[in-house]
Amino acid sequence: MKKQVLVTREVFDETIEFLARSFDVTSNQANVDFNREAIIERLQGKDAAVITTSDRIDDEFLTRCPGLKAVCSASVGFNHIDLDACTRHGVIATNTPGVLTDSVADMALCLTLATVRRLSEGERMVRAKQWKGSHLKQLLGHDLHHATVGICGFGRIGQAIAKRLRGFDTKLLYTDISRAERKIEDALQATYASKDDLLKQSDIVILILPYTPETHHYIGKAELAKMKVSAVLINMARGGIVDDTELAIALKAGRIWSAGLDVYENEPVVNPALFDLTNVVLTPHIASATEATRRAMTMLAAQNCVAALTGATPPNLLNPDYRKYSKA
Ligand code: 8YV
Repeated sequence: MKKQVLVTREVFDETIEFLARSFDVTSNQANVDFNREAIIERLQGKDAAVITTSDRIDDEFLTRCPGLKAVCSASVGFNHIDLDACTRHGVIATNTPGVLTDSVADMALCLTLATVRRLSEGERMVRAKQWKGSHLKQLLGHDLHHATVGICGFGRIGQAIAKRLRGFDTKLLYTDISRAERKIEDALQATYASKDDLLKQSDIVILILPYTPETHHYIGKAELAKMKVSAVLINMARGGIVDDTELAIALKAGRIWSAGLDVYENEPVVNPALFDLTNVVLTPHIASATEATRRAMTMLAAQNCVAALTGATPPNLLNPDYRKYSKA
């Protein structure tokens, strides 16, 4: 009997076709918003799930899906998957690093420029037919070129952002749990700084670090107080890394100048205080959302799934220790 796979969200047809060559596939091409219970129900008797960041996998979930052997996420981030619980249940967990690096880095520049140049405010004005003609002090923004930019998180995506920023003649600072190799710093003309120094010195702070218990509210009241009054904060990483309530307070009080957010605490619910502010650009978690990249992500998730269910080592295995508890 063929192994059975559930794909929890709508994906590209080629991904379903690829999986269907090896497995019986239950897909969700109608894009029904399955909640947790619906997914657990559909996973009974199935061997693997191809998921996204909307699907939280934890101990309770795995206990209720005893036949599950693999969860393959179409995402680089994996804070929605409890890896220790997967390991204890003998369940393989995989993600999709690499294929989205450039698209997310492009979007970081897009959101940064949109924020410093007040793009959303301008568009809202034009659409509301409130634009009465150009004048010299209208919608004055800040420059990205020659700004001091601080990148928090200097992994693959952080470095891809740094590479793009070189074209804007920025002064580049970065911080991370460890310092990058000298040759990387030199190539990207990036200077390592402590988190405190980076927050104090940067005109623009870009967050692109993983969400872990240690990075919960990495930017909160105290950190916002350290930033320049003219500073701009860009969150490309995960909701929860920024305390959105404190951010809204700081933006309202003019404690920092503006923010651009692609991710939110409690997604898809957005802190209502943010809606009342003009100095924040809000996008709906679309950093990797180009057609080519989303095709590549879903196909890589499917390839991980095939490997996981055929006894091969998935290319993006997150929890090698699962073998100690394997059900195979
Ligand atoms: C996607 C992401 O929006 O890769 C990640 O970690 O957050 C994004 O690329 C997400 O995977 C789609 O659910």
